[in-house]
Formats: sequence, C-alpha cells, structure tokens
Amino acid sequence: MIIAIDGPAGAGKSTVAKLLARKMGFLYIDTGAMYRALTLKALENSIDVENSELMSALAHNTGIDLINNADGSLKVLLDGCDVSKEIREPRITKFVSLVAKIKGVRDVMLENQRRLGKGQNSILDGRDIGTVVFPDAEKKFYIDANFQERVSRRHKELIGLGQKISAADVEMDLSNRDKIDSTREVAPLKKADDAIYIDTTKLTIEEVVAKLFQEINR
Ligand code: DC
Repeated sequence: MIIAIDGPAGAGKSTVAKLLARKMGFLYIDTGAMYRALTLKALENSIDVENSELMSALAHNTGIDLINNADGSLKVLLDGCDVSKEIREPRITKFVSLVAKIKGVRDVMLENQRRLGKGQNSILDGRDIGTVVFPDAEKKFYIDANFQERVSRRHKELIGLGQKISAADVEMDLSNRDKIDSTREVAPLKKADDAIYIDTTKLTIEEVVAKLFQEINR
C-alpha cells in the first residue's frame, strides 16, 4: 500500500508522515531529503545548482539512500555517508528548490522514489507524490496550514535543531520556496484531484495523525 502526502514546506508533512509510518509499520520515504542531499553534493563540489546539464549528470552519478532507524528517525546517506544533519542547514534550504526545478534531476529522483516505494507498504511525503510519483497511490493527502503558522512551525523546528535563524529569514525562505515549488514547469506542487485536503493550522500533530489514520482505515 502506498500513502502519498503532499503539501507546502512547514505544513507538518514530514513530522506526521514519520509518526504515521511508525504507527502503521510502514516504510517512510522523505523525498525532500533526496533533493536536499543532491543539493549538498553540488554545493560541496562547487557545481552551479542552476546548470541543468551538470546537475542532471550529477544526479545520475549520485547514490542516495534513506534508512528508517528503529527509533523512528531517518538516516540519509549520500554516496554512503550520513548527511542527515547537514541537509537541514540553511545553505541547503536556500538552493534546494532551484535543484528540484530541473527536469533531468526530477527524472532520476522519480525513478529512485518509485524503486524505493514499490511493492512495500510505504508513506512518501513531498510535493508531487500523489500527482506524479505514485498517481495510483491507495491514499493521498494534501496537508496545508496558513502561511504564518507554517513560518512559526518551521522556525521552532530549526531552533530545535540548534540553528540560529530569525523568523524573518524563515519567512523569506518559505515564501521563495512556495513560489518556486508551485510555479515550476515540471511536477509543480499541487493537490491531486483525488487527495484529501487537510488544513492543519488549528490542529496538533497528534490530531493530524489521528485524522489520517482514520481516513486510511475508512
Ligand atoms: O520537504 P522539504 O522542505 O525537505 O523539500 C525540499 C525541497 O525539495 C522543496 O522546496 C521542494 C523539493 N521537493 C520537490 O520538488 N518534490 C518533492 N517530492 C519533494 C521535495
């Protein structure tokens, strides 16, 4: 069974997806982490992240693996090295949407994501899971929240990770990424027609998990 969870940054997708996967014994696939890992490799090798040809070639020559740890956390391996922490740094967040715009990059990621999820009970979160990666997913959700709430959640999360970042910077980042992610030509962020829309603005994480769980078992 495939469960697709899409929505904008800061809506709570990954927190909810991770908890739900644990509760149901499903594999959790954080597709954003894959784009982040590739962005890290590009920056570390001084590759221009807007150069489609170079970035597509890089995607072909990069191994990205996701490992679900027993404690529910996720390990992200880039060519075999654990980069779980680095990929959350602001320097990655700043450029990742530019990398995710590139068709050649998305083609490689798409194949990788299908290979990881196929034939397994999986929960994938991202921007195009229900629309492009697994259009036949058994359950699809579009998780949203109002902009200020998303800014505040993401800010708290980053502070919790030990980053020194202002709310104003988080606001600018989310607004930039919302724009790039939803207006790009290939696989833009949008709700699949058959996805269940959930506005989490006034809900706790537990309430969102319970809601999804209820829908899945319906
Ligand atoms: O979910 P996240 O913030 O870690 O995602 C990082 C970026 O990757 C996001 O700005 C858009 C892109 N992304 C995407 O284009 N498609 C996906 N399925 C997942 C993420």
